[in-house]
Amino acid sequence: MKPYNMFIDGAAAEPATGSYFESENPYTGAPWARVAQGDAADVDRAVRAAHDAFSDGPWPQLTASERGALMRRLGDVIADNARRLAEIEVRDNGKLFAEMYGQLTYLPQWFYYFGGLADKIEGTVVPLDKKGYFVYTQKKPVGVVAIITPWNSPLMLLGWKLAPALAAGCTVVIKPSEYTSASTIELVELLHEAGLPRGVVNVVTGFGKDVGTPLVEHPLVRKISFTGSDVTGRVINEAAARGFKHVALELGGKSPNIVFADADLEAAANGVVSGIFAATGQTCIAGSRLLVQHSIHDEFVSTLVDLARPARMGDPMSDSTEVGPITTRAQYAKVLDYVDIAQREGAAVALGGGAADRPECGQGWFVEPTIFTGVDNGMRIAQEEVFGPVLAVIPFSDEDAAVELANDVRFGLGAGVWTTDIGRAFRMADRITSGTVWVNTYRAVSYMAPFGGFKDSGLGRENGIGAIEEYLENKTVWINTGAAVGNPFVMR
Ligand code: NAI
Ligand code: MG
Repeated sequence: MKPYNMFIDGAAAEPATGSYFESENPYTGAPWARVAQGDAADVDRAVRAAHDAFSDGPWPQLTASERGALMRRLGDVIADNARRLAEIEVRDNGKLFAEMYGQLTYLPQWFYYFGGLADKIEGTVVPLDKKGYFVYTQKKPVGVVAIITPWNSPLMLLGWKLAPALAAGCTVVIKPSEYTSASTIELVELLHEAGLPRGVVNVVTGFGKDVGTPLVEHPLVRKISFTGSDVTGRVINEAAARGFKHVALELGGKSPNIVFADADLEAAANGVVSGIFAATGQTCIAGSRLLVQHSIHDEFVSTLVDLARPARMGDPMSDSTEVGPITTRAQYAKVLDYVDIAQREGAAVALGGGAADRPECGQGWFVEPTIFTGVDNGMRIAQEEVFGPVLAVIPFSDEDAAVELANDVRFGLGAGVWTTDIGRAFRMADRITSGTVWVNTYRAVSYMAPFGGFKDSGLGRENGIGAIEEYLENKTVWINTGAAVGNPFVMR
């Protein structure tokens, strides 16, 4: 089994504990790699390396344009290695190769885009109300950033944070998910081969309590950027508050796909199926609630069932597979638990409803694509994030009722609206409390388009020009050009 060490101060690093844990392949159910089990001592080394690299040495010496040029090389090295990195991700999280490869071939754009922004970070001159002063502002990198990532799209979600952090001039300590550490370690090695100075990006692997906790509490960490569950997000937000740290949180969702009777129903059905069954439902923007207008409910549900029933399950590396396994044993148990909960709450199974017992699924952790009808929006299956291939169908009467149902959850990450009425499209987009609304499409993202959540779905935005501000501090400089410095007891 391949051993994976951490990466600290420009070199592979063995864990202080000397221990390694196993990473499992969700398709075979068997371990395939051994990963260094870090602890607070490793975190301290990594944060100090990042702090030193931030304060001194080649990184702060680079001009902003040189930093941008370096980032374009980092993008190129990701492009050159996309296939290999995607294969590692599939081995670790079981998502389809087509999906992970698609993410990896797109990821260089984050480094090109934010690399291009690196030398466009400008301050201002303040047209002051007082005479005798020249006042200007500067934007300074916040310092050492802790990046904590989940298992569903390890490198893509890392890149969303790493690219703007580097463009801003920050240095970084990454703690990948304990379920999917390998691709992050490989990537960071590649970035160093492409010329990234040592200490700028460090990786400490291990578990949340051993590595995540000391990392977010480390006094030299100035900003925490996290993607994962709302439960962990709350813990991190509290730690950030205690340390007066900047924090960005991309948490879960219970996103509605809202289908009106006037929609292009074929397109809508494709969008709804892709929203919940692509990536086996393991995305923060999964369209896990289908709100469908009463008049088309039965017909639309049967179209969905016909579309999803033949979906091929099996080896995520195979081009013909459409639904892969669940990434972790714990997540597999959680998804099956929610299938039981929904049935106990009185929802009716229209498709699936349990573990997949097909020969092509072997020993993997597969759940049948599942559709529940007869769901009330108050049920747990409509309110809690399952993070699996489980759709809750809820009928509505009119636009007002659809808006009320859509917003009646504590999350607010994404929403889909399917209609051919342009006025209705704009009205719905305006009234839904979520960070993203897709009209007649679903699950589209871009490095140029801001992404993030309302309510319990998180704080801050990734992607788009504004994302770089998340990694910058404002400084104001006052120059006295002739004002008298007189009476010390009067404010100027
Ligand atoms: P998690 O939120 O616990 O883990 C995400 C990352 O946080 C991992 O790197 C983990 O090691 C780290 N972490 C855990 N506890 C920490 C702590 N106290 N301090 C700092 N870092 C800590 O998610 P987990 O356990 O992998 O999955 C649980 C649920 O989270 C899933 O069932 C799903 O509902 C949700 N989830 C949401 C994701 C999203 O994209 N919004 C991604 C992955 C999971
Ligand atoms: Mg794994």
